[in-house]
Amino acid sequence: MKYSSDSPVVLHGISAEIGACEKVGIVGRTGAGKSTLTLAFFRIVEPSGGSIIIDGVDINKIGLDDLRSSLTIIPQDPVLFAGTVRSNIDPFGAFPEDSLQSALLRSHLVSSQKVPKASSQVTSISSVSTIVVEEDFSSEIVTDFAITLDSPISEGGSNLSAGQRQLLCLSRALAKGSKVIVLDEATASVDNETDARIQTTIRSEFSESTVLTIAHRLKTIVDYDRVIVLDQGNIVENGRPIDLIEHSSTNVFRKMCEESGEFEELLAIARATAK
Ligand SMILES: Nc1ncnc2c1ncn2[C@@H]1O[C@H](COP(=O)(O)OP(=O)(O)OP(=O)(O)O)[C@@H](O)[C@H]1O
Ligand SMILES: [Mg+2]
Repeated sequence: MKYSSDSPVVLHGISAEIGACEKVGIVGRTGAGKSTLTLAFFRIVEPSGGSIIIDGVDINKIGLDDLRSSLTIIPQDPVLFAGTVRSNIDPFGAFPEDSLQSALLRSHLVSSQKVPKASSQVTSISSVSTIVVEEDFSSEIVTDFAITLDSPISEGGSNLSAGQRQLLCLSRALAKGSKVIVLDEATASVDNETDARIQTTIRSEFSESTVLTIAHRLKTIVDYDRVIVLDQGNIVENGRPIDLIEHSSTNVFRKMCEESGEFEELLAIARATAK
């Protein structure tokens, strides 16, 4: 894939087979081509060669509407429409009320929970207004994410954090029942708590879907079925996390784990997952 006819090829020898319901983490340095891969799936940019085949269907040979309504791509920084939560989850009014309610709940965008003092800032959304950011002065506070289907969404989704916008996109995927989800994890803008919620949602709600997560934190994907490491538009490693850490000759993923400063923890998670 290349971005224009006279620019260099950004994705080269990408060749991989991904099984039904597999959870695949995609990692690599900035500029490796991770987000470009999501654009290829959605055909935002048409490929200059090669093909993506899903369930035997070459995605370049079907209509864009069919393709894009069957997959869910959650970009690094999703843009929402001005309107409500409902109009964003279900822009065409295609789903019954209870399935929208259920999708919203299951996305973990809505939750009531006690938050320990460690998280000094808590973002909550009231059902009538925009976001409220509260300083946590008490030893423990209760956040009530009173977001409903009728909560307003500002232009672009600017009243939600990047992570919350991604959770809203996950609600859309749940309502649609997408079998293939490509999530381009938001970078620095996402706090650990929202990141954890996104991953909880993926693990609990998308067990019957194939999920490709482009991850910036290795902890996000080290318990996945498989990790694909991209470098300069090529796949340089592809395998179970534990195998890449312990038995790879190239050691790219292992080095990334070491450089993260969390090597022992990542290794322990990968080992536990492989059992
Ligand atoms: N819209 C664009 N037009 C032209 N070149 C682009 C465009 N977007 C990305 N590129 C180029 O494609 C290559 C891969 O970029 P890509 O955004 O896929 O990286 P990435 O792996 O997602 O990085 P990051 O971790 O920073 O999100 C880079 O060399 C980048 O300069
Ligand atoms: Mg990217």
